[in-house]
Amino acid sequence: WSQTAHKVDGELHVGGLAIPELVANVNTPAYVLDEEDFRSRARAFRDAFSSYDVFYAGKAFLCIAVATWVAEEGLCLDVCSNSELTVALRAGFDPARIGYHGNNKSTADLRRAVAAGVGRIVVDSLDEIERLESLTAEPGMTAKVMIRVTAGVEAHTHEYIATAHEDQKFGFSITSGDALDAARRVLAAPGIELLGLHSHIGSQIFDSSGFEVAARRVLALQARISEELGVTLPEMDLGGGFGIAYTTQDDPADPAQLATEMTKIVEHECRALGIPEPRLSIEPGRAIVGPAMCTVYTVGTVKQVHLDGGAVRTYVSVDGGMSDNIRTALYDADYSCTVASRASEAVPVLARVVGKHCEAGDILVKDEFLPGDVRPGDLLAVPGTGAYCRSMASNYNHALRPPVVAVRDGVARVVVRRETEDDLLATDMGDVR
Ligand code: LLP
Repeated sequence: WSQTAHKVDGELHVGGLAIPELVANVNTPAYVLDEEDFRSRARAFRDAFSSYDVFYAGKAFLCIAVATWVAEEGLCLDVCSNSELTVALRAGFDPARIGYHGNNKSTADLRRAVAAGVGRIVVDSLDEIERLESLTAEPGMTAKVMIRVTAGVEAHTHEYIATAHEDQKFGFSITSGDALDAARRVLAAPGIELLGLHSHIGSQIFDSSGFEVAARRVLALQARISEELGVTLPEMDLGGGFGIAYTTQDDPADPAQLATEMTKIVEHECRALGIPEPRLSIEPGRAIVGPAMCTVYTVGTVKQVHLDGGAVRTYVSVDGGMSDNIRTALYDADYSCTVASRASEAVPVLARVVGKHCEAGDILVKDEFLPGDVRPGDLLAVPGTGAYCRSMASNYNHALRPPVVAVRDGVARVVVRRETEDDLLATDMGDVR
C-alpha cells in the first residue's frame, strides 16, 4: 500500500480521499496514484544514492504528469522506446538527463534520440553500433553511449524478467569477449563517446548478492578496458530491479541499505583493481511507482465453486482483469486485495479475484481471505499495481484501458483518462471493400 492509504470505518482512503467518493466521480476500474508516495520514494532513492544518478525507469509507468514529478524530484529518466521518449519530451524533460534503452533500435529511433540530444544511448548490439557509426558520420551528429553487458548472473526472479544470464536477448557477453570487442568498436568511432558499461540483472530482486556479483564482473571488464584499450570509462550503471512487497510475505530492501552495500562493493573492487571509481547510476522503476498505485474495481458476480475433496472456493468477478493487470497471468505474480467500500463482520472466506475476460487464466488475485458476505457492488482495491500494470495494459476483448487518477492532499486529478470506444474505433478503418 502507498503511505497515505488507511481505512476509516471500512472505507479505504488514499491521498486524503475516500475511495468510494473518488470512484463515484471516475467510475471503476481505476488506477489510483498516490502522488506524495511516488514523490517520496523517488526522493528516498535520490537521497540514498546521492552520489549516483538515479534514472526512473519509465517502462514501469509513464505519463506526462509522472515525467514532470520525476524531473521535479531531481531524478533522470530511462526510456526504452520512441514513444516513451515522446512522452518525456512532451513533459519538457531535459533530454540530457534521459537514457535510451532497447535491444532493437532502428536507425530512425537512433536518429531521433541523437537529434533530441538524449544524454546516453545504451547500445545492445553490433548492428546498433554500426547504425550509430553511420549516423554520427553526418555533420553535427554525435552520440554518448553506454554498452549493455551481460554479467552472467542468475538473478533469483521469474525467468521472463531475469536478464543477466547468457541465454537471453539483451547485452554483450562479458565472458565470450563480445563486450570488450563492442568497447573497442565504439572507441574507434570518432562521433561516439563511450561513457561506460551498463548492467541490468533483472527485476523484482530481493537478494543484493546478484548486484554485487554483477558489479564485480562489470568492474573487472572496466579494468580490462583500461589496460588493453587505454581508456578510463567515467560512468557505470547497475540497472534497476529492486523488489517490492506484493504480499505480507515479501520483505524488500530499503534503498538506503542497498546504496550503502553497492557503494562499498564498488569502492572495494576499484581499489583492488587499481582503477578510479566510476560515477554510478541506477534505474529503479518498480520500487518507485509500484507501491504508489492501487487498482479499484467493482464486484460484479460472486460464485461458489466446489472443489475436489469438498472444499469451496469463492470466485469474485470484478469489472477489470488481465487487460489492466496481466502480471498474475503472465508471471504467476502474487497480489492481495481488500474490500474498500465498507466494514464487515462476516467470517472470512478464501476467495479468488478474477476479471471479466473470456479465459480461465484471467486471475487478478489467486488467493485472498475476503469477508464471507462479499457481494456485487462492493469495491475491491488491489495494492501495488503501479508498476507494469497500466504500462502493460491491453485492449483484450476491446476492454477500455482504465484511467490513472492522481490523488494528493484530498485533491484528485485524472492524469490519464479512461479510454472510450471512440478511441478504440479510431484505428478501425471500417468496411474498406
Ligand atoms: N533498467 C533496465 C535496463 C530494464 O530493463 C528495467 C526493466 C529497469 C531498469 C527497471 O526495472 P525495475 O526497477 O522496474 O525492476 N514486466 C515485468 C518487469 C520487466 C522489467 C523490464 N526491465 C514485470 O511486470 O514484472
